[in-house]
Amino acid sequence: MTLYFKNGKYTQKDEVTVSIDDRGYYFGDGVYEVIKVYGGSLYTAEEHFTRFLSSAEKIRMPLPYTVAEFTEIAERLAEDNGITEGHVYIQATRGVAPRIHNFPGEETEPMITGYAIENPRPLAKLESGVAVKTVDDIRWLRCDIKSLNLLANVMAKQEAVEAGCAEAVFIRDGIVTEGSSSNIFGVKDGILYTHPATNLILNGITRRVVLKCCAQESIGVMEETFSLDELRAMDEVFLTSTTSEITPITSIDGEQVGDGKPGPLTARLQAVFESTIGQVQQKTN
Ligand code: PDD
Repeated sequence: MTLYFKNGKYTQKDEVTVSIDDRGYYFGDGVYEVIKVYGGSLYTAEEHFTRFLSSAEKIRMPLPYTVAEFTEIAERLAEDNGITEGHVYIQATRGVAPRIHNFPGEETEPMITGYAIENPRPLAKLESGVAVKTVDDIRWLRCDIKSLNLLANVMAKQEAVEAGCAEAVFIRDGIVTEGSSSNIFGVKDGILYTHPATNLILNGITRRVVLKCCAQESIGVMEETFSLDELRAMDEVFLTSTTSEITPITSIDGEQVGDGKPGPLTARLQAVFESTIGQVQQKTN
């Protein structure tokens, strides 16, 4: 039995139907969040739902719940579905209305749906690292919005997978922006580099946790753009996301990064990150 959430009601999956007139279905007109569950507890829920409300505001779609209310919904989904290690998915579309591009009238309410599923930590990848492929960043200029419109990301990830890689790394005008569903970091001479949180990337919650860990550990950080050539010359490279945590990148377009093995600073940050997961579990258990 899996409980799903739809506009204020908890229901069975079979009972959740989506209208052909849903604007998410027609236009990708909506926003979403993926929140990790560790040991039955939500991780960084406040940050995720604050970003969710901010994404919704940026597309001028008022949502009827607060950060605290969304957190309660996500907690209930995780708890009632008995999720120990997994994630909660929540999305909101601009609702159901006959297909016209401009916004529907005010009587149209957002369609909010969500569910929770088991999804174990990718331990093998965290330990051994992954290969990535670079692709042109053909996305729009509001990548800071966690929009449902993911066609360019889908195409990029597919291209990477067909090349035997785990992730696609977007390159815009020679600059490394982010992954198709992750943020990208490089390490050179002990300093961590990552693209600044502009309109060209999603400011990942895991990215922010990594930056906090660096501050705590007195690791130097440069939130500055770097080129693909600079990425290739990094000592270490890794990606971050809610579901991938801190995953080492050991090769880029078939060329190995450093000595081709996950690097020491990446391992250190993984350990610090791991301690933040432990804190969540201790706090709520
Ligand atoms: N993706 N950049 C993009 C384009 C993303 O889609 C994601 C996350 C990230 C990392 O953000 P965070 O650390 O907050 O998960 C960066 C999620 C996991 C997804 O679409 O499944």
